[in-house]
Amino acid sequence: MPTDADGVTRAAPQPVLSGLTGAAIFLVVTINEGEESAQTVRELAADLSGLVRAVGFRDLEGRLGCVLGIGAAAWDRLTGTRRPAGLHPFREIRAGARHAVATPGDLLFHIRATRMDLCFELAAQLMARLRDAVTAADEVHGFRYFDERDLLGFVDGTENPVGEAAARAVLIGAEDPAFAGGSYVIVQKYLHDIAAWNRLPAEEQERIIGRTKLSDIELDDSVKPAYAHNALTTIVEDGEEVKIVRDNMPFGSVGSGEYGTYFIGYARSPAPIEQMLVNMFAGVPEGNYDRLLDVSRAVTGILFFVPPAPLLESLADVPAKAGSAARPAAAPAAATGPDGAGELEIGSLRGASQDE
Ligand code: HEM
Repeated sequence: MPTDADGVTRAAPQPVLSGLTGAAIFLVVTINEGEESAQTVRELAADLSGLVRAVGFRDLEGRLGCVLGIGAAAWDRLTGTRRPAGLHPFREIRAGARHAVATPGDLLFHIRATRMDLCFELAAQLMARLRDAVTAADEVHGFRYFDERDLLGFVDGTENPVGEAAARAVLIGAEDPAFAGGSYVIVQKYLHDIAAWNRLPAEEQERIIGRTKLSDIELDDSVKPAYAHNALTTIVEDGEEVKIVRDNMPFGSVGSGEYGTYFIGYARSPAPIEQMLVNMFAGVPEGNYDRLLDVSRAVTGILFFVPPAPLLESLADVPAKAGSAARPAAAPAAATGPDGAGELEIGSLRGASQDE
């Protein structure tokens, strides 16, 4: 089991770092009332990797993968244990005409493969198991658009970290050892006013993104405006850039004029993504906001915790009513302390859930 620089053992992550694919389904659901619904979800969580294996084996080159994220309220309900340090409801932002909305969502299934049929089949199998236990809040089918472009015509994802740098950016380590190997993910569904965007000259579009459109080269600092998207989303702490991993996907429907970007960002703490959002919506300095938002509207916004794989599998062991007002007798935890104990421990994480 891998250990990070501080000697903390990291449980095996879910496939958050499986890389960009040609197709994706982003399925957000809320969990229906009742303990039976919660238990159905726990059991599905435990069986998820088996389901992915079963569907994915039908085309191994299809690279099917699924990441399951759990929202703050759902965490309390499903586990009854202390929340991971960074897990809280999504923080909405209002600034001028811009609004980063917070919307309902207990679970996120981020399903990726090279082919949509694999994604679709897995989503169908998941819903067959969950049908009476959840209500779909949002479902987006994303597709790869030419050379990794968004529907605004720009290559999207270039500055993602790769390899060890990506793992460092995305996987929780010593800062929250009980959850080491987990991640946080923020999703936002954006709808574009594509006609307004297309009316802008390409040079202005390039200044808004901060890169050239055709060749995807970063604009030189001497010509890049302070409001450029890649200027406002660059976070530097102690002289080092704080990276996140994005896997945005275009989606849309030409008949209804819907042109969208599904933003999805993974990180070991939600803080850098939240800071990027404040920078984009409020601006740096205030008022110097991201001009992408003049032509793009966020219609969803949710933060999820992505448990490491063994913790997800252990959810089925949570005794019934774990998430109710009564404290559970036992709950799952990934034991990941410096002593090297890397297996699941049942009952080691107790404590009140934190309401915000
Ligand atoms: C309308 C939605 C969005 C679109 C169309 C979009 C598009 C882009 C494009 C084209 C790039 C340049 C290429 C690249 O490095 O990937 C980029 C960079 C980036 N975006 Fe976005 N983005 C959107 C929303 C967001 C949001 C909500 C965040 C974070 C909260 C974000 C964070 C970043 C970061 C961190 C970079 C890399 C900056 C750098 O290091 O150069 N983006 N985005």
